[in-house]
Amino acid sequence: MSEKQDPFSAPFGTLFGDHMSVASYVDGVYDYPGAAVPMENFSMHPAAHVLHYASECFEGLKAHRQVDGSVAIFRLQDSVERMLLSIAKLRATPPSAELLSQLIIDATTANASFTPDAPGSLYIRPTFIGTAANIGAAATPSSEAKLYVINSPVGDYFPGGVRPLSIFIETDIPRTTPQFGSVKSGANYVMALGPTLDAKRDHVADQVLFASGDDVTETGASNFFLCDEERLITRNLDDSFLHGITRKSIIQIAHDMGLAVEERSIPVDELKAWSEHGEMFLSGTAAVIAPVGTVMTRGETVQVGDGQPGPTTLKLRNALTDIQTGAAEDKHGWLTPL
Ligand code: PLP
Ligand code: COI
Repeated sequence: MSEKQDPFSAPFGTLFGDHMSVASYVDGVYDYPGAAVPMENFSMHPAAHVLHYASECFEGLKAHRQVDGSVAIFRLQDSVERMLLSIAKLRATPPSAELLSQLIIDATTANASFTPDAPGSLYIRPTFIGTAANIGAAATPSSEAKLYVINSPVGDYFPGGVRPLSIFIETDIPRTTPQFGSVKSGANYVMALGPTLDAKRDHVADQVLFASGDDVTETGASNFFLCDEERLITRNLDDSFLHGITRKSIIQIAHDMGLAVEERSIPVDELKAWSEHGEMFLSGTAAVIAPVGTVMTRGETVQVGDGQPGPTTLKLRNALTDIQTGAAEDKHGWLTPL
């Protein structure tokens, strides 16, 4: 990345740090040289398992420039734990939590100088890929793999900054399969792509909120919340959707603020009725807290409140970003200083 490239004008995820950390899994053992290396292309056999059977999963977390100028990673251990679960769901052999943490810290330390000031951040992308050259291994985990971490200086995920988003509620097509909803695997994202592109084309939606079986879960890249001045409501955890680390943080912050938190199923009719008096937002590492201003179903468009970001949404967003940047006390121990 040259100094001219601005993470606020470049599309999210298209700029990169100049280092990466890479461990190789061969003969049942992860081998890590112990330091970040210059970023370079991989060379892979065309029969690599990931290219044929999607043996891939990843994480998304961020390092934030602190108000004192230092850099700290937000909720490192939570991402490590989730990635170990994702790797296990691919039926591959997970590394130790210590090794994965080390890879994340080494890459992010090597690229820390690329961290923009808030509201920008340094996105961290740990990735697992099966690399064994074996096109017969459709029903066998890859016997070889790479585990690596790259960094991307980022601004806003949704172009246009904090603005009310339009979401289309998809009640027919699920985002992914029931057994893989909580796995952060690339295959889930390509499955959500068709309905997302169709909703963008047909309804000019920013995002699709998946609600098959009248069960509001998540969008293609974020969790979903209802809130007002007293309550915060989001879907209870099960295997059908990704257990967002931002979601978990918001629930804790809401408790700390004295909001009543409800984790339970949300029918589509309740969501529509909520739009008359309450607020809605999306949450995620990339999305942060993104207000929802319009909700669309097939045949109906509903404005949420006055269509503008609500006060509780903005209060939660500020509380979260203040902790992430060290402007507020990190009383739950969520930051790992580099
Ligand atoms: N759901 C999906 C499908 C996502 O891709 C993300 C983003 O990572 C989230 C939810 C939110 O998860 P987190 O807050 O851990 O980033
Ligand atoms: C994240 O928020 O980390 C995500 O995974 C979203 C990503 C698809 C950009």
